Amino acid sequence: MTNGDELKVKKTIEKLDFKNIYFSWPSGKEALANCSFSIPGPGLWMLVGRNGSGKSTLFKIISGLLQPQHGEISCNLKSSLMFQNPDHQILLPSCGSDLLHNLPANLTNTQIEIRITELLAEVDLEGLASRPIHTLSGGQKQRLALAGALASESQLLLLDEPTALLDPNNQKMVLRTVKKLCHRSKDPLTAIWITHRLDELDHADGAARMENGKVGKWISGKQLRKSIQPLAVRQV
Ligand SMILES: Nc1ncnc2c1ncn2[C@@H]1O[C@H](COP(=O)(O)OP(=O)(O)OP(=O)(O)O)[C@@H](O)[C@H]1O
Ligand SMILES: [Mg+2]
Repeated sequence: MTNGDELKVKKTIEKLDFKNIYFSWPSGKEALANCSFSIPGPGLWMLVGRNGSGKSTLFKIISGLLQPQHGEISCNLKSSLMFQNPDHQILLPSCGSDLLHNLPANLTNTQIEIRITELLAEVDLEGLASRPIHTLSGGQKQRLALAGALASESQLLLLDEPTALLDPNNQKMVLRTVKKLCHRSKDPLTAIWITHRLDELDHADGAARMENGKVGKWISGKQLRKSIQPLAVRQV
């Protein structure tokens, strides 16, 4: 699969493409500097990088929350952002009601019920439509947030350290669900996953290092883990 350090992926129409993007905060701090990269296609793409290397800023730009000062972005995928803390993104009291506000407005009650059942099954939360949110584990809340992204028909998941606050079992479940969604036969999703947990890199379809506001080349996740493992986890 690899040729030198470069990951070879079947060429598809590129759906997310950054060309020479620059972004500075009002303080003058340059967060992205001549950043160019493309997402090769659907799949699970992981990013690692030191604190302050620009990863979260990159997500805010992809999702349109921030506008770069220079450069060109092509993106024809609808995106959803997901953060470390699921309590920051779940709004309503039960699993079903939280999904409801993400669904298209024109569905009948029967269609809504069917869709909520399907969505919960996709993220391995079958039968939990009426469960109060506060009774869910952190991992279940993250998977409910994934179902919310599916309900709103997002094709691009921007996952900013989604397992940072989870125990190993919940971490595994969230990773398994995202991999499943990125590899399903019908409409596989594209996910960009920021991580400081190097063991997660082994599950990626490709991984890149972010340094000084630039995304490096996509290489295999295992290869990237091996090359940065000698460094301290929060120092990559
Ligand atoms: N709201 C803000 N206002 C001003 N500067 C900011 C703001 N958010 C981030 N920065 C700066 O932009 C740079 C990139 O920050 P960013 O949060 O994108 O890094 P990161 O790679 O996500 O780091 P971490 O691994 O700690 O989450 C840093 O120098 C940071 O201090
Ligand atoms: Mg960050």
